[in-house]
Amino acid sequence: HAHAALISALPKAELHLHIEGSLEPEMMFRLAERNGISLPYPTVEAVRAAYDFDNLQSFLDLYYAGAGVLQTEQDFYDLTWAYLLRCRDDKVVHTEIFFDPQTHTERGIAFGTVYQGIRRALDDARAQLNISSRLIMSFLRHLSEEDGFVVLEQARPYLAGIDGFGLDSSEVGHPPAKFARLFAACHQLGLPCVAHAGEEGPPAYVWEALDLLKVCRIDHGVRALEDASLVARLVASRMPLTVCPYSNIKLRVFDQLKDHNLRQLLQAGLCATVNSDDPAYFGGYVQENYLGCARELGLSKAEILQLCQNGFEASWLSPEEKAHWQ
Ligand code: HPA
Ligand code: ZN
Repeated sequence: HAHAALISALPKAELHLHIEGSLEPEMMFRLAERNGISLPYPTVEAVRAAYDFDNLQSFLDLYYAGAGVLQTEQDFYDLTWAYLLRCRDDKVVHTEIFFDPQTHTERGIAFGTVYQGIRRALDDARAQLNISSRLIMSFLRHLSEEDGFVVLEQARPYLAGIDGFGLDSSEVGHPPAKFARLFAACHQLGLPCVAHAGEEGPPAYVWEALDLLKVCRIDHGVRALEDASLVARLVASRMPLTVCPYSNIKLRVFDQLKDHNLRQLLQAGLCATVNSDDPAYFGGYVQENYLGCARELGLSKAEILQLCQNGFEASWLSPEEKAHWQ
């Protein structure tokens, strides 16, 4: 492996991780059994074999179905804790994770059940693993803006433990503009906002995320390279892109890892970062994403260091905490 020792030794930040996307098939079976749910697959291998996606939607259909095994606060704790143990193995010292409350409230699970399980695992990781974190509540863009306001209301008792807001799910046909009023309400709470944009959607969606949702990071954003004036704006404002290389291959945004534009993003002067997105579905946690890119794109040592540095720069850590890791 090119630069494998360097990559495993470097402290890393992860900024784009859906906790529901860290549900490994083994845990899916364990939770299904614990909760008396029958899965439509006979074995763990059969589940893995189904992870052969054509695009974002074909993944989302399985991702939302898989989340059905998550029922109790302990389930959300176990899910989050398993991911945090992987962080420790990958030397991820800081992680900013998304959760999709509507995936669970829509099937009758209380907001507090979801939140408390995740929160308790994050707090335990701070104390026991020395991993810091932020928690980002993400709205599902295939649902209405009104639905978003409903879940924001459900979040109110827990806002002290929520660090920001995001926007995910089916991108094309659900532009950021659909959520302009909802994000204005989020900003009124004094919390930062991010949005998935430019994954499958056009550069225009990245412009909208910036101008209408006033985001401080773009999740994915790889299609920004199609628009030179957008690149200039992103570079000038040092707007981070949370890039997810393995995700982009599994969801066919690029054919193969060697075709990924991560290196061009860096060469354009963008603050690109490396993240895993939904590692249980896409076949690699953060370290594997770095290793794969180093190998297939021929990243230099300087580029690897830059990507790790960008992760901390783009994080919501305090300036003092950033200085510690950079
Ligand atoms: N894109 C949009 N929605 C998602 C993703 C993604 O990569 N992962 C989980 N929900
Ligand atoms: Zn994502």
